[in-house]
Amino acid sequence: MKLTNHTPAYVTNWGAAYCGDALALLAELSDESVNLVLTSPPFALQREKEYGNRSQSDYVEWLAQFARLVQRKLKPDGSFVVDLGGAYETGSPTRSLYNFRVAVHFCDQLGFHLAEDFYWHNPSKLPSPIEWVNKRKLRAKDSVNTVWWFGKTRWPKADVTKVLTEYSDRMKKLLEDPDGFYTPKKRPSGHDIGKAFAKDNGGAIPSNLLQISNSESNGVYLRGCKTVSAKQHPARFPAKLPEFFIRFLTEPGDLVLDIFSGSNTTGSVAEREGRMWLAFEERRDYLAASVFRFFGEEADDEGFKLAHDTILDGRQVDLRRAVYGEPKPTKPANGSHYPIKPSQSLLLLNEDGTTAALKSNRPVASVNYRKSSRTQKRKSLLSP
Ligand SMILES: C[S@@+](CC[C@H](N)C(=O)[O-])C[C@H]1O[C@@H](n2cnc3c(N)ncnc32)[C@H](O)[C@@H]1O
Repeated sequence: MKLTNHTPAYVTNWGAAYCGDALALLAELSDESVNLVLTSPPFALQREKEYGNRSQSDYVEWLAQFARLVQRKLKPDGSFVVDLGGAYETGSPTRSLYNFRVAVHFCDQLGFHLAEDFYWHNPSKLPSPIEWVNKRKLRAKDSVNTVWWFGKTRWPKADVTKVLTEYSDRMKKLLEDPDGFYTPKKRPSGHDIGKAFAKDNGGAIPSNLLQISNSESNGVYLRGCKTVSAKQHPARFPAKLPEFFIRFLTEPGDLVLDIFSGSNTTGSVAEREGRMWLAFEERRDYLAASVFRFFGEEADDEGFKLAHDTILDGRQVDLRRAVYGEPKPTKPANGSHYPIKPSQSLLLLNEDGTTAALKSNRPVASVNYRKSSRTQKRKSLLSP
């Protein structure tokens, strides 16, 4: 899936990242083409973030402009997942209702259906707002974001068996020895708890409270930012958050879009999960750094700088394996998930233009070109 009037900042085997206003970029997509739009917009915060947050008064209408287009672009069984942090009203310890207003407006006015309300608990979140929590000790710290899952229709595609969680120790014991552990009985609620509960389904059904610490290391992304002295994106969500919804609401080969992609956490998870993806971001510096997420752990400083500079210059970086002769992975017949290795083969060109990746046959490619091949590499990074 490519946009006709815009050139991507970078492309991989599974996706493309575009720099620009999401409204203009969304308008270019074919109607009913996207399976999942998953995003975390700038929140309606009182304290300005460096990329500019929206004010609370016009927030719902501002976000609704994007949502109207999202609705047109989604397939009939598509989903729209929006992560929104909570906020306080100006000058008083009173919560803003903006995130709830978004949910009500999207359903009542735009015709979305609230498939389920999720709550993302981030135990590592720092106490805030400082005034009400730390200084005056009037409020508890706010460590839960609302994550609204909207369906375009009442029946968005979903399969909870793809996101089962580990059984509790108690459940594991029950599964080991159902007779010794458990006597079927009626609960006070009237629910009849029979032996059917002792069936091993491969994991427990997850709840709508997602406990994910936002403290993951983002290894290669942070290393790339450090190498080129780029600022890390200040509001990244943890990969586990998009991972949950991508596995839950899409199948391999489906198209996932993040309209406010920032450091492109969503695209990198989609790539790993064998989903097609598109990422929109209005700030070129964020987009240029986000390309690091698609590099292998063994990438070197020269590769980071080259890709970053190329994107900042407004030229395109092409990370598709096929361009360099490496075969594209084929979809498994049973449609199940398969691991995808990072598509950084662009860094593996020899001087004669053959790919070292094919010769070295390493599962994760490394940057091993010779010094004199700089011109060759430079040409190869750019799209024609
Ligand atoms: C909360 S951040 C997203 C962070 C992302 N989830 C991540 O993990 O890196 C929101 C992003 O939306 C971008 N943005 C704001 N308005 C936009 C617009 N109209 N079009 C495209 N991007 C926009 C901001 O520059 C910012 O990077």
